[in-house]
Amino acid sequence: MTKKYDFDTIINRKGTDSYKWYRDEHGLADGQLIPMWVADMDFRCADPIVEAVVKRAEHGLYGYPVRSRNHTELFLSWQQRRFGCQPQKEWVTYAAPGVVFAIDIILNMLTEKGDKVLLLMPNYDPLFEMIPKSGRTLVESPLVIGEDGLVRIDFDDLEAKLKGGDVKMMTISNPHNPSGRVWTREELGRIAELAEKYGVFVVSDEIHADFIAKDKGHVPFYSLSEAAAKNSLSCYSANKGFNLGGFQTSTLVLADAEKRAEFEKQLGIAQTRLDNIFGALATEVAYGDPACEEWLDQAIAYVDGNKQYLYDFLAAKLPELKAVPSQGTYLVWVDCSGLGCKDGRELADFFYNKAKVEPCMGYEFGSAGELFVRLNLACSRTVLARALERIRDAAHA
Ligand SMILES: Cc1ncc(COP(=O)(O)O)c(C=O)c1O
Repeated sequence: MTKKYDFDTIINRKGTDSYKWYRDEHGLADGQLIPMWVADMDFRCADPIVEAVVKRAEHGLYGYPVRSRNHTELFLSWQQRRFGCQPQKEWVTYAAPGVVFAIDIILNMLTEKGDKVLLLMPNYDPLFEMIPKSGRTLVESPLVIGEDGLVRIDFDDLEAKLKGGDVKMMTISNPHNPSGRVWTREELGRIAELAEKYGVFVVSDEIHADFIAKDKGHVPFYSLSEAAAKNSLSCYSANKGFNLGGFQTSTLVLADAEKRAEFEKQLGIAQTRLDNIFGALATEVAYGDPACEEWLDQAIAYVDGNKQYLYDFLAAKLPELKAVPSQGTYLVWVDCSGLGCKDGRELADFFYNKAKVEPCMGYEFGSAGELFVRLNLACSRTVLARALERIRDAAHA
């Protein structure tokens, strides 16, 4: 019988050197903030993951590990089960330090200083910050909010910016961080077509893809066509779906054999071709044990309940805040312009000091997000309810 997992119980994370709680841990807050920012979950991992990690820890030998021989098989069957497709086995590679590290390597490998790299904005900050930091030029194509309230790509703007021929690479987050938008096959197909037409390599960061309900239909970029696969890097990690952020690992699909060889060479130079002993193990258990998939489906359903709670609360009690409907991920992008703050700093002051709730501030995702926040709903509903009440009380004080 399927176990019913408990996502309601609040587990104390204070005193565990949790990044989410660092303001508290480092004496920067007064112990009253409710953190709803960085993308990890307040939920205990699926039992088989905890058991496997404990068993390996008890072995007491933590020397250098290699990636196990059936890791790729487990990844392929996971892709098939969740997304209905799989890449060719030889296209699969990995980068132990994680997805952002992998993208930074490919950026430096495929572009030169001064080259242009495009992002759909707003977007996850490390993805665009690495561009100027490594001497490349960021080209922004602004996303728009459609009549249905969903985030949409402005394809005219995108094509106009790719057309010049001097954009070398573009990075997408799929699903989109911060809005949780699940890009459709049609939208991704148009991106792939434009990228091929104008000679732009696509990096598709799909780290949040596991946290999408199966019926919402995540489309991996490599699966669009052989040409799209050849012209892209698709990035995965069990990190987001299974709450393994502290284990730092990733699995990548890079179909072009020459680029893959060069990529692996670059990782070798940085001595990063070994794996993270617990990250690799936890990933294998996550992808391979059916009980973990049950945990994931229940976590997604619980967070869907949290999303609905948020939407209902805002509509009934806090209409100054407007949530963009989030189709996947445990993140929700919320328009706070109705609060009347003049800029993002004032909005941050409102959240941190008046409401005592700590979201990701929208300006971290680019200037288009100035009056938005991103809320992480992977928490107990009790915590969410408390946070919303605080925001309402502060807004109506
Ligand atoms: C879109 C996106 N990519 C990458 C990461 C981080 O990945 P990693 O820890 O594997 O570098 C995150 C974490 O929040 C993310 O939201």
